[in-house]
Amino acid sequence: MSIKEKISELVKHREEAKLGGGIERIEKQHTAGKLTAWERLELLVDSDSFIHLGRFIQHRAMGFGMEKRRAYGDGVIAGIGTINGRKVAVYLQDFTFMGGSVGEMHALRIANTVRTALKLGIPVIGINDSGGARIQEGVDSLKGYGEIFYWNVMASGVIPQIVAIMGPCAGGAVYSPALADFIIMTKRSFMFITGPKVVKAAIGEEVSFEELGGAEIHAAKSGVAHFIVEDDRAGIELIKKLLTYLPSNNIEDPPYKETGDDPYREDESLNSIIPDDPLKPYDVRNVINSIVDRGTFLEVQEHFAPNAVIGFARLGGYVIGVVANQPAVMAGCLDIDSSDKISRFVRFCDSFNIPIVTFMDVPGFLPGTSQEHGGVIRHGAKIIYAYAEATVPKITVILRKAYGGAYIAMGSKHLGADYVVAWPTAEIAVMGPEGAIGIIYKRELAKAENPEELAKQFVEKYRKEVATPYFSASRGYVDDILIPSETRKYLYQTLEYLLDKREKHSRPPRKHGIMPV
Ligand code: HXC
Repeated sequence: MSIKEKISELVKHREEAKLGGGIERIEKQHTAGKLTAWERLELLVDSDSFIHLGRFIQHRAMGFGMEKRRAYGDGVIAGIGTINGRKVAVYLQDFTFMGGSVGEMHALRIANTVRTALKLGIPVIGINDSGGARIQEGVDSLKGYGEIFYWNVMASGVIPQIVAIMGPCAGGAVYSPALADFIIMTKRSFMFITGPKVVKAAIGEEVSFEELGGAEIHAAKSGVAHFIVEDDRAGIELIKKLLTYLPSNNIEDPPYKETGDDPYREDESLNSIIPDDPLKPYDVRNVINSIVDRGTFLEVQEHFAPNAVIGFARLGGYVIGVVANQPAVMAGCLDIDSSDKISRFVRFCDSFNIPIVTFMDVPGFLPGTSQEHGGVIRHGAKIIYAYAEATVPKITVILRKAYGGAYIAMGSKHLGADYVVAWPTAEIAVMGPEGAIGIIYKRELAKAENPEELAKQFVEKYRKEVATPYFSASRGYVDDILIPSETRKYLYQTLEYLLDKREKHSRPPRKHGIMPV
C-alpha cells in the first residue's frame, strides 16, 4: 500500500469512527430528541482543540456475536480539549453503538480520562447516555466500572467532576455520576439502580421510568441531580457556565472575573426586605441577589430541599459559595435533606478554595417523628462537621432568626467563622421567644388574669434583652451589626482581607476525620 493509500485508509477509519453504530442509529437518536455524542462534543469543546485518548480502542470480547460488533472507540469518545480556553478532560458515551453500553475497553477509556484529568489538574466532564454494563462482557464490564469508580474517588476533591446525564443511566452505572461533584440531567434522561421491570418482579410495584428516576424526581425528591435542563444543548451551556465558577483543581483559586458591579454599591431595598412581623416569610433569594454581583447567582439543587438555598455567585468579581436558610419554605427550618444539601456544598467549596458566605435565618431543626426516625441527628451533624472542618474564608450574616443548634450549625463564630455579622433584625437565642417564655415564665403565666397580654409582654422583654444581636455582640460572637444596605460592601471588604487566609496547617495531622454520614 502506498503512503497515499495508507493516509486515505486512515481518513476512512476516522470517518467510520464518527458513525458510531451507523446512520440508522444516529437517526433514531435524533428522533428521540437527543444529539449524538459527536454533536455534543462539537458543542462542548472549542473548535479544533480536541485531542483523542485511545481513539481506535475496540473491545476484545468473544461470543454472543461480539466478534462482528466492533466500532472504533468502543462506544465512547474521550480526550482532552478546551472550553472557552480552559483545559478539560471529557468523555461522551455514544448510545448509537450497542446502547452506549460499558464494556471493558469502553470503561478503560473513561477511567483513563479521569486519570488524565487528575494528572493534569483539570476538570473532568462526562456526558452519559448508556444502557449500563455491557451484558455480553460479564465481569470484565464490572471490572471496568470498578476502575472508573476508583478514579472518581481518587479525583474527588482534587479536580472538579461534572456529569451530564443525557439518556439512560441504569444499574451500578449511576455510581460514577454519584461520585462526581455535580450531576446535570436533561428532561429526557433517567437514572435508577433497578428498572421498572425488576421493580415489578421484585416487589410487584408498577412504576414508569419517569416516576422511578426521571430528572424531575432526582432534581426535587432524591437530591441526586443538582440541575435539571430542557435538553442536550441547555445541558452543555450549563456545563460551560458552571465551569466559570470553578478552579481547575484544588490548589488553584477559582477564576476571578470583573463584573462591572461596584463592590461598594449600597442597596437601600435591603433595609426593608425583612418584614416587621418576625413570623412573616420572605424570599432569601432576593437578599442574595441584591448583595452579590448582579446576575451572577447560580443556584444549585434549586428544587431539592428548598428550605435551604445554595449556589455560586461573584462578589466584586471573586467567586463565593452562598448558603442560606429560606424562610419562604418551612420557615427556613433545617431538616434531613437540607442538612445533606448544605454540608455537601460546604465541603465542595472548602475543597476548591471557594469562600463561603452564609445568610442565616433559621428557627431550628424541623420537629417530628419522621425527622427523628429518619436520622436528623446524624444528618444535622454533617452541617456542623462541614463548617467546622472548612478552612476557606467563612463569613456569616445573621438576617433574623438564629436559634439553638441550628444557629451553631449555620456557620456560627463557634465553628470557626472568620466574621459573623448581624442585621438589627437578628434574634439570637436558645429558642424562639414564644417557646422560651412558655418555659421560663410557666408559673407567672398560669397565675395571670390575662395570660395572653402577659405573654406578649414577656415575648417583647425576651426579644429586647436576650434575643437581641447586641447581647451576642457584647460577647464577641457577632463582630458587628450592619445596616442591611451596607452588607455588600462589608462582605467584599472582609473577603478581600480573608483571601490569603491559610488555616489548614494549624489542624492536627490525621488520615481523615469520620464524617457522620
Ligand atoms: C449490551 C445493550 C445494553 C447493555 C442496551 N443495549 N443496553 N447491550 N448491554 N446493558 C443495546 C440493545 O441490545 C440494543 O442493541 C441497543 O443497545 C439499543 O438498545 P434499545 O433497547 O434498542 O434502546 P431503547 O429502547 O432506547 O432502550 C434503552 C434501555 C434498554 C432502556 C437502556 O436498552 C435497557 O433497558 N437496557 C438494559 C439496561 C440495564 O438493565 N443495564 C444493565 C444494568 S446493570 P441492538 O442489537 O438493537 O443494536 C448494570 C450493572 C453495572 O449496569 C454495575 C456496575 C457496578
